[in-house]
Amino acid sequence: MAAALIADSLSKSFVTGTVRTDVLRNLSVEIAAAELTLVSGPSGCGKSTLLAILSGLLRPDAGRVIALGQDLGRLKPVELDRFRLLHTGFVFQGFNLFPALDAVEQVALPLGYLGLSDAAARERARDALAEVGLASRMHLKPAALSGGEKQRVAIARALAKEPQLLFADEPTSALDAANGQIVIDTLHRIARAHRATVLCVSHDPRLIAHADRVLAMEDGRILSDRRPALVAVQ
Ligand SMILES: Nc1ncnc2c1ncn2[C@@H]1O[C@H](COP(=O)(O)OP(=O)(O)OP(=O)(O)O)[C@@H](O)[C@H]1O
Ligand SMILES: [Mg+2]
Repeated sequence: MAAALIADSLSKSFVTGTVRTDVLRNLSVEIAAAELTLVSGPSGCGKSTLLAILSGLLRPDAGRVIALGQDLGRLKPVELDRFRLLHTGFVFQGFNLFPALDAVEQVALPLGYLGLSDAAARERARDALAEVGLASRMHLKPAALSGGEKQRVAIARALAKEPQLLFADEPTSALDAANGQIVIDTLHRIARAHRATVLCVSHDPRLIAHADRVLAMEDGRILSDRRPALVAVQ
């Protein structure tokens, strides 16, 4: 089967004043569907930049991204927006929840953009919240939720769109070890149950064992590519 995401010879630099930073250096990788792929590496090595380019938020200077068989570089801005709306979900470190909305409303809100009726959006939101283990917390606002619960609301919000591509940038770094583990297990289950492609950036070495595949980045390149579970049975 073709990879869900293909990075083909990606390069990206940022120029600030007279300083030029080469962030991605001719990086190529293929990411399979229905897996949780973790990207690890030191601060500043280009992980968030890679995620932004693979999700179509940012254009590379050179190279191509093929996502779900589409060359993102060939899409017009409006087509790219539509591709992102229909096929991608994003989970951030900071949860990005609205203080005044309860969990069902947080998750249902973006579904309106997909054209769902209010009733259908709320039903899908309740299903997504149940799937991340928040069936009993659905009517609480962020202030009444723990950090781990907030992050699971954010995952439910991304999941409710039923995206084929789910991106998470440091989703556990604001959480303690136990909650971090619940969040990464939830992402892993989503990858398998929905055959979603989950690409997750994390510094946290405790999460490595929970991933199907770990890509270690340094200086804008992928230094190693391994499958922790396979190593364990050898
Ligand atoms: N918009 C921008 N303008 C200028 N420089 C940028 C921009 N975005 C990122 N950079 C630089 O690119 C490099 C890589 O940044 P990136 O955010 O991808 O790293 P990271 O691996 O995600 O780091 P961290 O683990 O700290 O989140 C850094 O040196 C950063 O300062
Ligand atoms: Mg980052």
